[in-house]
Amino acid sequence: MTRFLAAIFLFAIIWSAQSAKILVNFPMPAYSHFSLGFRLAKELADRGHQVTVINPYPQKTPIKNYKDISVEEHVEFIEELKKNLFGMNNMGFVSNINFLLMMCSNLTERTFINKNVQQLLNSEEIFDLVITEHFLNEAHFGLAHHFKAPLVVVSPGAANSLTNHLTANPSPSSYVPNIMTGFTSHMNFWQRTTNFLANIVYDGMREVIMMPIQRKLFKKYIKSDLELDDVLFNASIVLTNSHISVQDAVPHVPNMIEIGGFHVKPPKKLPDDLQKFLDDSKEGVILFSMGSNLKSKDLKPEVREGILEAFSKIKQKVLWKFETELEGAPKNVKIMKWLPQQDILAHPNIVMFISHGGLLSTIEAVYHGVPIVGIPVFGDQEANIAAAASKGYAVRVPLKELSEEKLSWALNEILNNPKYRENIKQRSKLMQDQPLKPLDSAIYWIEHVIRHKGAPHLRSAGLDLKWYEREMIDIILFLTLVTILLFIVFYIIIKKIIRSCCRKKQVKVSRTKKNK
Ligand SMILES: *[C@@H]1O[C@H](CO)[C@@H](O)[C@H](O)[C@H]1NC(C)=O
Repeated sequence: MTRFLAAIFLFAIIWSAQSAKILVNFPMPAYSHFSLGFRLAKELADRGHQVTVINPYPQKTPIKNYKDISVEEHVEFIEELKKNLFGMNNMGFVSNINFLLMMCSNLTERTFINKNVQQLLNSEEIFDLVITEHFLNEAHFGLAHHFKAPLVVVSPGAANSLTNHLTANPSPSSYVPNIMTGFTSHMNFWQRTTNFLANIVYDGMREVIMMPIQRKLFKKYIKSDLELDDVLFNASIVLTNSHISVQDAVPHVPNMIEIGGFHVKPPKKLPDDLQKFLDDSKEGVILFSMGSNLKSKDLKPEVREGILEAFSKIKQKVLWKFETELEGAPKNVKIMKWLPQQDILAHPNIVMFISHGGLLSTIEAVYHGVPIVGIPVFGDQEANIAAAASKGYAVRVPLKELSEEKLSWALNEILNNPKYRENIKQRSKLMQDQPLKPLDSAIYWIEHVIRHKGAPHLRSAGLDLKWYEREMIDIILFLTLVTILLFIVFYIIIKKIIRSCCRKKQVKVSRTKKNK
């Protein structure tokens, strides 16, 4: 009987470690962002954890162990802004960032004042872990502080100047390109100069424009004596949506872990008509989608006509995600309002992916080994396509230059030059060749943080330094000053010696003159 009780007791202990209560915060009203959080939350729920998910896309049918805290009104707020997404292509670097900063500060506050979130904050709920997306919403790090739980941060992109400072991750301007410059990691002298300045502008905007707003929001909505800066650098781990098969090899401190590719699902069966369309198209099919935020219907009419003209000249079929009716489409073009992108990319007859170069689309193309024609529009898309082109698995067609000739050139390049396909197949192999599948790796590290109630052992000592100490600026200034002082002392001594020498000579000279 005692043994039986002991067994139950032991089981209870193991179970409580295995089943944690986790708060997941993914409030960005963009499906690409949410899909990352959902993939993690769903997997954690499937593995027996209790997840509570702050998100704008609540489930229609309940999922076991998965509870929604809905902020669905965010979707409406952003719908207006989305109409002008193609316009962001013409905005400069600074206005692009400024637009994002303002939108995201607004969303950060909207999340806090949402009544469901308020209810949660005022409840007696206890969490063993908080996972939050990091996208210009640092005040949300306060959720972990509020619930006295360790924090896991998920970055929707690769390590960049917005995330690096959270972990003191080194990112020298000399070989780590700023995400907004569109450079690759091999930069010439002027590119390195631009990159250096871009990093300063980026860091400056973060500190001067964004952080003061986030600090205020933290103070306003998190009841605590502490400041945001006391909790900002306390994340146990930062999971980045990147992998060397897609991005450049750049430094990562031990608590910054790459899980890129984790969102890709094993291919599901396609709808019958689509399956037949793809199976029957022996000459190959080109998938064309500008992602979930940009709408192909918003392309200028003359651009759309150019595209159709280019398509009419090839023998391959084209599957285009197009949101309305499309008049004048040639016979080989099939439009669909929505399409299961990952499952289509997995089909062996897909020969090319024409894409806006969103990170998720790029990762999916690499995963399935499909070469890309990239038409980047805004944000990180330029950088993603620049990296892909430099690695020889994509060609870039700037939105401003998109025309029949330019697209025909790109289509022929990918269709007739086998190097693109070979390169991306190689990249695909790299993505699959890992000790743990990306999703398993993500779960492993999340559970590692739960098991150890945080991960201070992974924290870089760089976080305990001021930025100028970390960058050695104080030491360089000190040594420069010492060198200047030494030169001055040296100069004075030399001057003294020369003068006294001259005087002696003069004295000598005048004496010899007298003697004559
Ligand atoms: C920092 O994180 C640790 C565990 O991850 C936690 O115990 C501690 O309370 C956190 N500090 C603050 C100020 O929130």
